[in-house]
Amino acid sequence: MRLPLITLLLLCQQLFACQSGCKCPTRTTAVCKGSSLRSIPILLDPRTTILDLSNNRISRLSADELSLYPNLEQLILKNNSITHLSADVFSTLPHLRVLDLSSNSLLSLPNEVFSKLKNLKTLIISSNDVQLGPECFSGLSQLHTLSLADNRLSFLPPSVLKPLSGLKSLDLSANKLLSMPASVLSNLGGIETLKLKQNLLSSLETGMFVAQKELKLLDISENLIGDIEEGALYGLEKLETLNLTNNQLVRLPGNTWSLPSLKCLDLSSNLFVSLETASFDGLPSLQYLNISHSRNLKTIQMASFVQLSSLHWLSVSSSALTYIHPSAFNQIPPLSHLDLSNNELRYLAPGMLQWQNIRNLYLANNDWQCSCDLRVSNLKPRDDAKCAGPENLAGAPLNELNSCTILGGLLIPFLLVIFILLLALVILALACKRPSKGSSSSKNRAFYNDQLIAALNSHKEYSFDRHSPYTMSSEDSRDSAYESPTSALMPRRPPPSCPPPPRLLTLPRDGPMHVPPPMVPTLLRNSNDPYLIPKSSQVPISRL
Ligand SMILES: *[C@@H]1O[C@H](CO)[C@@H](O)[C@H](O)[C@H]1NC(C)=O
Ligand SMILES: *[C@@H]1O[C@H](CO)[C@@H](O)[C@H](O)[C@H]1NC(C)=O
Ligand SMILES: *[C@@H]1O[C@H](CO)[C@@H](O)[C@H](O)[C@H]1NC(C)=O
Repeated sequence: MRLPLITLLLLCQQLFACQSGCKCPTRTTAVCKGSSLRSIPILLDPRTTILDLSNNRISRLSADELSLYPNLEQLILKNNSITHLSADVFSTLPHLRVLDLSSNSLLSLPNEVFSKLKNLKTLIISSNDVQLGPECFSGLSQLHTLSLADNRLSFLPPSVLKPLSGLKSLDLSANKLLSMPASVLSNLGGIETLKLKQNLLSSLETGMFVAQKELKLLDISENLIGDIEEGALYGLEKLETLNLTNNQLVRLPGNTWSLPSLKCLDLSSNLFVSLETASFDGLPSLQYLNISHSRNLKTIQMASFVQLSSLHWLSVSSSALTYIHPSAFNQIPPLSHLDLSNNELRYLAPGMLQWQNIRNLYLANNDWQCSCDLRVSNLKPRDDAKCAGPENLAGAPLNELNSCTILGGLLIPFLLVIFILLLALVILALACKRPSKGSSSSKNRAFYNDQLIAALNSHKEYSFDRHSPYTMSSEDSRDSAYESPTSALMPRRPPPSCPPPPRLLTLPRDGPMHVPPPMVPTLLRNSNDPYLIPKSSQVPISRL
């Protein structure tokens, strides 16, 4: 009899403790979502620690109603119609750890409104229309997570975040912030996540994050950043993820980065025209790099990626690439994933990367010219990349082409070279057989000198000693840059081996006959005389 009575009593208490419109999965948890509540339910168990009031129509909070649940640790007021808070509204909730006020219509936060929440770790005020008073976060030194996303904030009072010395995560996404002065962040030394996505920031200024020694994730995507000043990212020694997608970056000068721990960099959807040498210096730990959707990006220049010794994942897809310099990578990054799809590429240099190590290669929608120059790399893309040319291969899937072997690829040039060499040999052989005319080589000159000396020695007046210092042996003259000194002494006469045309003794037809002197017979006898009178014009001695 006793046992069922107790069970009934407990059941009644349970029914009483969980108000209609709410569910109470445990005695200390009440979930009253989407029940059109207009105010805080007052009939719940006073020991309730978790109260979820999302998706209702609560428009005002009163300190009296909340004081019914002094043990509250989580209070979720997401998606209600709260327009303002009184300064003491949370003063009776010393154990509160999580307060979610997102998607309400808050316009302002009173000074010190959270100052009694000594244990508050998470405060969500996203999707309101709130303006921050300078003291609104005072007393929140234990706060870990603050979201102010989607609030139309255009500036932050300089000291508004100062009390939040224990903050680890700050979300300021989807506001209208034009700048983020270093002074605003200066007391947030322990912050690990900072989201500034979807604001109106136009540059990253020098020393902006100098206090953020513990920052691991920085999201500045979807802003208007056109310039990263030198030293803007200084101090971010533990940063692992940087998201700069959807900005206005045109250039990455060599000194942009000094992020020793960065693993993941998203630079997609920017306005780069060219990636330059040293664009990615200072990123020794980078593993993941997304430069896709760079609609102006035409070229990747020499040594752009050579400092990225840890890079595994790279996408430059959906850009306007026409050219990648053969030493853009210099085989350095250990890539296993490379996406170059949706560009205007025609060619990839064989030695640019270790192609066979890239397991996930994407090359579709380019202008691949599948001549042997390209096929020699034996590219095996994962997608259905096709050849655009030459004509006989247009439309052929790249990963079904057999690779050109080095010989196969170079057979025609190879044969051509052999043919040219043979031709050159033949021409050379022919040229060597013909005596070279007017050759000025020292060998020929030496031979000529020897001939001269021999010829001159036969004349009595000019006797040359072959061993005199003025005569050069053929050995000497071969090495000499100077002309033989004997040439200066030589009579300027045609060489004796080649006699001048004989001077004919002509006889006038009708005039008196000129008779040579009586020494004619002597003259005739000297057969060596170059001025020999030819026989036909000799006057017969009998006529004399
Ligand atoms: C917000 O609450 C209303 C009911 O009050 C609901 O109809 C709507 O779907 C909720 N919005 C979201 C985003 O949950
Ligand atoms: C960067 O942010 C965009 C949205 O702003 C998101 O889609 C993308 O996944 C993020 N990238 C990384 C690497 O987290
Ligand atoms: C790279 O960037 C593009 C464009 O912003 C995005 O769609 C894609 O999700 C990113 N990739 C990854 C893996 O985050």
